[in-house]
Amino acid sequence: KNYEYILTSKPAEGVALITLNRPKALNALSTPLFTELNEALAELDADDSVGAFVLTGSGRAFAAGADIKEMKDKTYNEVYQNRFLEDWGKLTSVRKPIIAAVNGFALGGGCELALMCDIILAAPTATFGQPEINLGVIPGGGGTQRLARAIGKSRTMEITLTGRNFSAAEAAAWGMVSRVVPEGEGKVVEEAVAMAQTIASKGRLAVQAGKDAVNAAYEQTLREGLNTERRLFHGLFATQDQKEGMAAFAEKRKAVWKHA
Ligand code: HXC
Repeated sequence: KNYEYILTSKPAEGVALITLNRPKALNALSTPLFTELNEALAELDADDSVGAFVLTGSGRAFAAGADIKEMKDKTYNEVYQNRFLEDWGKLTSVRKPIIAAVNGFALGGGCELALMCDIILAAPTATFGQPEINLGVIPGGGGTQRLARAIGKSRTMEITLTGRNFSAAEAAAWGMVSRVVPEGEGKVVEEAVAMAQTIASKGRLAVQAGKDAVNAAYEQTLREGLNTERRLFHGLFATQDQKEGMAAFAEKRKAVWKHA
């Protein structure tokens, strides 16, 4: 499908790549852009040929934040009544894993968008930050909450209250990203696509259960999370893929997943 602010493609078996494509505005996340992103995610999440997503930016930015020019004249009544930005959260209910391949600026809502994804890979050029304080506001897309869980309270306070950016190397040292992929910007997308392809080659039900279980660690108490994990684990014994996976191991052959 042809979109105005994003590009979609299937660069490898089982992989859907979504590229934010508003480079002149450093991929500022306008409402029309997010509407397209949500539409593409919904369509590809329901597409059986897709097992995992890669989300990336273009040019100098992953995304430089919510669109400040769109926001600047909005009133409290308007943003509250229309639940401004609430539909950003739809990304977090996508069933399939989403890998963020972060190149260049990931600021404000761009940093929050990366944090909504399941895995983050960063190019050496990636620059993260929550500069909202410089605009007289605070993060509104989960930044204070997800960043605190990812990098801890003291760093999150510093980043949120000073508005200073942080580098890919800092993000890696703090455990916010899986790793920094060296050798320029194209490489991080290649690496993310390869990782997505690996994930897509597994049994889909187990992948979904794994994602749900890890997410429970961020939503539930340890006791509840352990229960969630155990129930999902038990549930997988009702799948053909569990029979196949364990039989294949015992027979010293490669499993052939039915995603059933
Ligand atoms: C609208 C933006 C934008 C944004 C950049 N642009 N960021 N437009 N909203 N968030 C536009 C610029 O206006 C400019 O357009 C073009 O992109 C290129 O940007 P420049 O500023 O000229 O580039 P540069 O000098 O290299 O500076 C890059 C930058 C700077 C440091 C990233 O653009 C910047 O500070 N951007 C804003 C970052 C930010 O504050 N993000 C948080 C937003 S609030 P023209 O037309 O002039 O060429 C937010 C809240 C989220 O995200 C809460 C809810 C989810």
